[in-house]
Amino acid sequence: MHASSRSVTSNQSAPHDDLARRVTRALNHPLRKPVAEHTRRAFAEARRWLADQSRPLVLDAGCGVGLSTRQLAARHPEHAVIGIDRSADRLGRDHGPLPANALLVRADLVDFWRLALAADWQPTHHYLLYPNPYPKASHLKLRWHGHPVFPALLALGGRLEVRSNWRLYLDEFALATHQASGQRPTVVEHDSQGAFLTPFERKYVASGQTVWRLTVTLPHAPALMPAVAED
Ligand SMILES: C[S@@+](CC[C@H](N)C(=O)[O-])C[C@H]1O[C@@H](n2cnc3c(N)ncnc32)[C@H](O)[C@@H]1O
Repeated sequence: MHASSRSVTSNQSAPHDDLARRVTRALNHPLRKPVAEHTRRAFAEARRWLADQSRPLVLDAGCGVGLSTRQLAARHPEHAVIGIDRSADRLGRDHGPLPANALLVRADLVDFWRLALAADWQPTHHYLLYPNPYPKASHLKLRWHGHPVFPALLALGGRLEVRSNWRLYLDEFALATHQASGQRPTVVEHDSQGAFLTPFERKYVASGQTVWRLTVTLPHAPALMPAVAED
């Protein structure tokens, strides 16, 4: 990872015109993409681990190398913390042993979130730290709030925290969350005070960028995610 980082540039200067339509679509049309077999297996293992832990759950979605998962496990010692990332390369980097209340899982979140909802997981805290911004306007559908899986992410419930170095990402996320759930998130500048939760946070702050934090507490609301009709 480079020591300096350029701030996000985008051909968008305001929330995307198509955001509300995409959210409406996600709320009304089931996501038919089949769950990948490797994510089903990874989820089954995570489910066994969580049952053994028998504690409330914290999710670290898109955890990268898992440094945040380790820190969150220390911050929430009475919880079981699961970090999920699709990159085997990132997850494979050696950052020392994992705390007993932490687990790293290689999985695609598009599948993992749906499996977690179907298994009735109810995280008390859900972190989404520096998701890929996909700043081109044409990439709205790749941002989590423009993606068809968005209702599943919200439906899990708990205290959701999203951080980004692109304010507009969080403003859009907040609009989409309000539209889908009726809850209004707060977006504020995040003062890390030199204690970085993730490598991306460290890199952005070291480059002089402002980082932002969205928080909202959501009810567990499985009905938000439209079900795929059985044949
Ligand atoms: C910009 S990095 C941030 C990593 C880490 N949270 C941090 O702040 O250092 C975004 C991460 O999200 C992961 N990611 C993106 N899409 C994903 C998906 N569909 N399923 C799982 N992980 C995903 C990427 O592999 C990457 O590690």
